[in-house]
Amino acid sequence: MATLGFIGSGSIGTKLARLAIAAGIDVVMSNSRGPESLATTVAQLGERARAATPQEAARAGDWVVVSIPLSAYPQLPATDLAGKVVLDTTNYYPVRDGTFEVLDTGKLTSSELIQEHLSGSKLVKAFNNISDQHIPALARPSGAADRTALPIAGDDPRAKASAAALIDRLGFDTVDAGTLAESWRFEPETDPFVVPYFADPAALVAASVELSEQIRAGLPPTAMPPQDPGVPLPADRVRTLLAETTRKLPADRLY
Ligand SMILES: NC(=O)c1ccc[n+]([C@@H]2O[C@H](COP(=O)([O-])OP(=O)(O)OC[C@H]3O[C@@H](n4cnc5c(N)ncnc54)[C@H](OP(=O)(O)O)[C@@H]3O)[C@@H](O)[C@H]2O)c1
Repeated sequence: MATLGFIGSGSIGTKLARLAIAAGIDVVMSNSRGPESLATTVAQLGERARAATPQEAARAGDWVVVSIPLSAYPQLPATDLAGKVVLDTTNYYPVRDGTFEVLDTGKLTSSELIQEHLSGSKLVKAFNNISDQHIPALARPSGAADRTALPIAGDDPRAKASAAALIDRLGFDTVDAGTLAESWRFEPETDPFVVPYFADPAALVAASVELSEQIRAGLPPTAMPPQDPGVPLPADRVRTLLAETTRKLPADRLY
């Protein structure tokens, strides 16, 4: 019996929890507001799901998914996560997270920053470069001809292998993108980031430009990614995108 802990039970967390349950894995969900606030979520997920505090979710998980706004990383329970393989789905958006000089200058990647806080854990960056809607849409059983691949990065090869085995059970192939220092290759607005999983990438780019213009004009950011069925992205294509991309620091990005 395996258990996947979740710190963050929002859009990404709940979609990954559904895939885990479908694969026969128990899930322990947590958020910032406490287990009571997750009653509906765990009822919808079914009997393999329970709600807990972040500390309890950390201790319960054979792996733990961290899927929170990056700005909340200092609150992650480092002691309870010690020794764990932690899958980090987070991305850095200064407009949402505030600014971090070490990230703005490229001194660290966002996953290196979290790894510094979780010094006893083995962080693997994963699921940060796919839109939430494409997690259920593109998951396929192992060996399916139209399987989609996701890049992963981490400093511990055994943790990366363990994360890859989990991600395979959840429905995706993986491509090793290197260490956490190299994980900039699939941070926001790089070539492998979100767009190539869209069936209609032009519609996403248009929405992103609109969002950027709203943010720069000080307007409420209402532009949303379009609904999209997704398109399978094979491992070879992910490898090419990772190899060819340039680094996108926040100053070079739309937002
Ligand atoms: N949405 C996407 O398409 C997508 C794709 C790839 C990567 N990501 C990244 O993945 C992360 C999560 O995205 P999301 O869309 O799932 O966000 P979301 O729907 O806003 O969910 C965020 C979750 O984090 C929880 N949280 C916030 N602060 C916390 C804390 N201190 N301790 C424990 N839990 C805390 C929230 O709980 P409360 O509601 O109780 O505060 C909520 O359950 C973000 O970094 C995002 O940039 C998102």
